[in-house]
Amino acid sequence: MDRRELVRSVRNLATRQGLRAARSAWRGRRTDAWGLPARGGERARVPGPVAGAEPLPGGGVVRFDRSELRICVVTGGAVFWGWDGAGPGPSYAVPGAPPGPDPRAELEPDKDGGWRVVSERVTVEVSRNGAVEIRTPGGVVLRRDLPPRWWEPLRGGPARWMQRTEVPADARFFGLGGRASGPRLRDGTYRLWNTDPKGSFGPGDDPLYITMPAQLVVADAGTHLAFHDNSWEGRVTLREGEEGNGSGHDRPGTSELRMEGGPLRCWVIVGTPARVLARWSRLTGPAAVPPSWALGPQHARWGFGSEEEVRRVVAGYRERGLPLSAVHLDIDHFDAHQVFTVDRERFPDLPGLAKDLRADGVRLVSIVDPAVKADPGNTVYAAGRRAGAFVRDGRGREVRGEVWPGECAYPDFTDPGVRRWWGELYGERLAQGFSGVWHDMNEPVSFAPFGDMTLPRSARHALEGRGGDHREAHNVYALAMARAGFQGLRRLRPDERPFLFSRSGWAGMQRYGGTWSGDVSTGWPGLRASLALALGLGLCGVPYSGPDVGGFDGSPSPELYLRWFQLGAYLPLFRTHAAIGAGRREPWEFGPAVLEHARAALAARERLLPYWVTLAHLARLTGAPYVRPVWWSAPRDRGLRDCEDAFLLGDALLVAPVLEPGGVRRSVRLPRGRWYDTATGEAYDGPGRVTVAAPLSRVPVLARGGSVIPVRGADGGLELEVWAPVAGRKGGGLVVPDSGDGWARPEVERYTSRVVDGRVVVRRVRGERSGPARRRVRVRGLDEQG
Ligand code: GLC
Repeated sequence: MDRRELVRSVRNLATRQGLRAARSAWRGRRTDAWGLPARGGERARVPGPVAGAEPLPGGGVVRFDRSELRICVVTGGAVFWGWDGAGPGPSYAVPGAPPGPDPRAELEPDKDGGWRVVSERVTVEVSRNGAVEIRTPGGVVLRRDLPPRWWEPLRGGPARWMQRTEVPADARFFGLGGRASGPRLRDGTYRLWNTDPKGSFGPGDDPLYITMPAQLVVADAGTHLAFHDNSWEGRVTLREGEEGNGSGHDRPGTSELRMEGGPLRCWVIVGTPARVLARWSRLTGPAAVPPSWALGPQHARWGFGSEEEVRRVVAGYRERGLPLSAVHLDIDHFDAHQVFTVDRERFPDLPGLAKDLRADGVRLVSIVDPAVKADPGNTVYAAGRRAGAFVRDGRGREVRGEVWPGECAYPDFTDPGVRRWWGELYGERLAQGFSGVWHDMNEPVSFAPFGDMTLPRSARHALEGRGGDHREAHNVYALAMARAGFQGLRRLRPDERPFLFSRSGWAGMQRYGGTWSGDVSTGWPGLRASLALALGLGLCGVPYSGPDVGGFDGSPSPELYLRWFQLGAYLPLFRTHAAIGAGRREPWEFGPAVLEHARAALAARERLLPYWVTLAHLARLTGAPYVRPVWWSAPRDRGLRDCEDAFLLGDALLVAPVLEPGGVRRSVRLPRGRWYDTATGEAYDGPGRVTVAAPLSRVPVLARGGSVIPVRGADGGLELEVWAPVAGRKGGGLVVPDSGDGWARPEVERYTSRVVDGRVVVRRVRGERSGPARRRVRVRGLDEQG
């Protein structure tokens, strides 16, 4: 415990809730002392020498003296391997049956006594002692997983294991869920255990709410994603490599994974970043498309206090002509913080409020916390108890924790029956007029002045009928809660796509919704962390996220607020939010200049809404996140690989937010090709660095030459903004017109752009043929070409 934490916990202890939290933490410890006896002696094991192999479709099983390795290359080129009999299922990340084996992939002996599987896209080499190499078809090594080591308790129980991996010396690591220090993950140890960081966090805080054993490795030799499908607690230690500058003495990068239990199995996907993410989304499921209104500006607040206050804030937006798409109500609208209740004194008529706001085009979104007040008078609790819905310890007693409402019980979302029961409860939220839900505190949290703020590790979970304890269930708790909420909403309101986002989660959470930063601390480092989180999560397959604009705590300076607002306007979830004691976050609270600049950011967001809708559908169809690192299409460009202060929004735009105080110009590293400053029309040719103006009124946004971007025209209709391609080059873009907030199959329109006789020609492509665009086209950037 560091000093800050110590002071905080002593201060907390002095309150009534603090005392209860301390009691609950002690109780948790006692539960574990009984339920999780000390491991005692352990026996270490390695696979030992190879003993034989048996081919199977897509690969086979390679036997070693003390273990066996199953390998399967599946159609589409992903590689699965698992030790000790581990297969791809059951899995929370990869639902249903994984893709079938690639019939052309075959296991064959290699000349060194090992085995290999050769397929069209990858070669897997297994050495005599159990190292697994993933190579490109050309034979270049992308990843070498060294023989694993297990530690088995002599008294029985789960084996811990460790595996060390080598990657090329120039490789960079990304992913591992939401990491505030990213997106490039520097040398250090990253814990895999979803955690509420206790108060607001900055770039130095790790882990946070969403951890996942999925890493994206980008090197000159190629890009790959490796996912160790195991939800247990673990640690990843990363060390970037060093190149010997042609001396032949490169030091490879290393990643060392230690898990406290669970299967040793891994999926590896090789290809360009776009291909890798496409396959990843095929494996773990396509991302839910938020309803279009969830792509508009949203305002949240812990501590609105009353219905009048909500109306006042909404009127504030309306009177100033600022667009607003949704207002989020936090725990203070609940009766004594109890989930699925309403404080009728302060919010006497929520359905009426919802109706009035809706008439102004504003939706209501409700927070939903998993913990239920353990009070027989609480109807949700009483029903849950009757249904046997709550997590119990090894002796059959309900596990209690301390959260906002006081002493609480926790639904076991890893039980399909409990998910169904919980999903039904969302009917109450819909009846109150809410249009979407915001899942919080689902790491899950139980306040504790010391140790982990969560359930005892020995707490029992259904785990889909297999049975197990919190060590295995913890990291997938929120994922399973999201599944319950999403499916509940689908059943209750089958004609609309659910809007759900969740603070915690795991690999595959995108199937049910998005996430947000959580309690990012107010300050310039927090602003940077906001971008790191959105980029890192996108590379893990979770495309919809965004920060608490302005930061969660305290009061940002007007400049910081503005820069945060401007960044937020280019991230998928664009929402201001703050803690109950924090300063205001309405755009008009920071003076007239900030208001005008915020208005401009809102207008830019509104204009790009058709593009956002397109990106949301494309994320589902292709796995590509809306927000991507600048190296997305050029992972071999090392300068781009290390660029962390700009990002691509779709294929067409490059956004360069201002992340430092006092900045009014900034340098931007451009990928190859022509780029136009969308504000000035000035053209630049990449690759290389340029300096562009970044006055307080806007952040630099550059458009790729040739791109076709759907925007909202002055009359509200869809219009194509086309940025002139370089003469002789072809450009283009995809457009997915808004097909409403239901389940209608979206149509994807494909356009090309070309310069012919000094004019930009835009055509719509259908199959082999192309014809006129048949949409209003506005060409930009032509003059600059000369
Ligand atoms: C947590 C959430 C935050 C919310 C607060 C009260 O700290 O991260 O967004 O406002 O709880 O519900």
